[in-house]
Parts: sequence; structure tokens; C-alpha cells
Amino acid sequence: SREYKLVMLGEGGVGKSAIIMQFISHRFPEDHDPTIEDAYKTQIRIDNEPANLDILDTAGQAEFTAMRDQYMRAGEGFIISYSITDRRSFSSVITVDAPPLGNKSDLQHLRQVSREEGQGLAREFQCPFFETSAAFRLFIDDVFVALVRQIRQH
Ligand code: GTP
Ligand code: MG
Repeated sequence: SREYKLVMLGEGGVGKSAIIMQFISHRFPEDHDPTIEDAYKTQIRIDNEPANLDILDTAGQAEFTAMRDQYMRAGEGFIISYSITDRRSFSSVITVDAPPLGNKSDLQHLRQVSREEGQGLAREFQCPFFETSAAFRLFIDDVFVALVRQIRQH
């Protein structure tokens, strides 16, 4: 079955690893253990077709380094995540040509980025927009399903 190379980008601490870990193993890492680079493989069925996902979890600062260009050449599908509680992490999303994902939606009381701002940025990618909570496993599967569907359409 077809393999899909997906890359998770975004600033340090926004929850990239937590999102992937929830997706793959239904576990939530409470601690921030900064990633250098990790690769995960999983197989799922999407629209009744198997998909082998090859997911690259990157370091928080990757988008500001030469690594980003390398990642963007190697991948087919990208997610750039930010934390809805961290305005600065949203600013860096704007510089990357990939659909945005707002994480930590469970922390509404700490929200700094509105849903509309994320949605506005997502519109140009013709991909559904999600605000996820890795902590509560909200919309985690939806993000990956939407990304694979988008790759299949192209
Ligand atoms: P780097 O690997 O350094 O780039 O960070 P990261 O983006 O992979 O962040 P990571 O997944 O390590 O999460 C950072 C911290 O945020 C951890 O303490 C997580 O438990 C916490 N966290 C991640 N996602 C959520 C979430 O949806 N809600 C809440 N409340 N905390 C979260
Ligand atoms: Mg990480």
C-alpha cells in the first residue's frame, strides 16, 4: 500500500511530539522532552484504503534552520503547529508554506491566538482547520486523515 511521508513542524514546546504520540500510541507525554528528530511509522485505513504513514517529528527550531528546506524536500505532507496559548509560535507559522494546526485547545483561559486567526491562515491551503488538544486527544486523528486526503487529491 501507498506510503505517505509527513513532517511535523513548529516551534519548541507547542506539542508536536504530544500530538504524534497521541495519534500513534494514545499516550500523552506530560513533560517537555525537546526533540532532536524522531521518525514514526503507523498504518491506518483512510476512506477504506490502507495508508502507511511515515511521520517525522522535528526539533522546535527546525523552521529557522537549513533543516527546514531539507524537511520540505523530503516530505509530501506538512503540518505546522502552534500553541493557541503562544502568540510567538503563531508568528512563526506565517513564514512556513504549510497548513497551520492550533494545539493546546484545552487551555482556553490562556488563549492568545483566536480561532479565526488560525482559520484565516488555513484558508489558502484548502485543508480543514483544526484546533487540537493533545492532552485530551481532541481532533488528533482528524488532522492526519485530512492531510492524507489532501495528498491523495493531488
Ligand atoms: P520540541 O520537541 O521541543 O520542539 O517540543 P514539542 O513541540 O514536541 O512539544 P511537546 O510535545 O514536547 O510538548 C511540550 C509541553 O506541552 C509538554 O509538557 C506537553 O505535556 C505539553 N502539551 C502538549 N500538548 C498539549 C496540549 O494539547 N494541552 C496541554 N495542556 N499541554 C500540552
Ligand atoms: Mg518534540
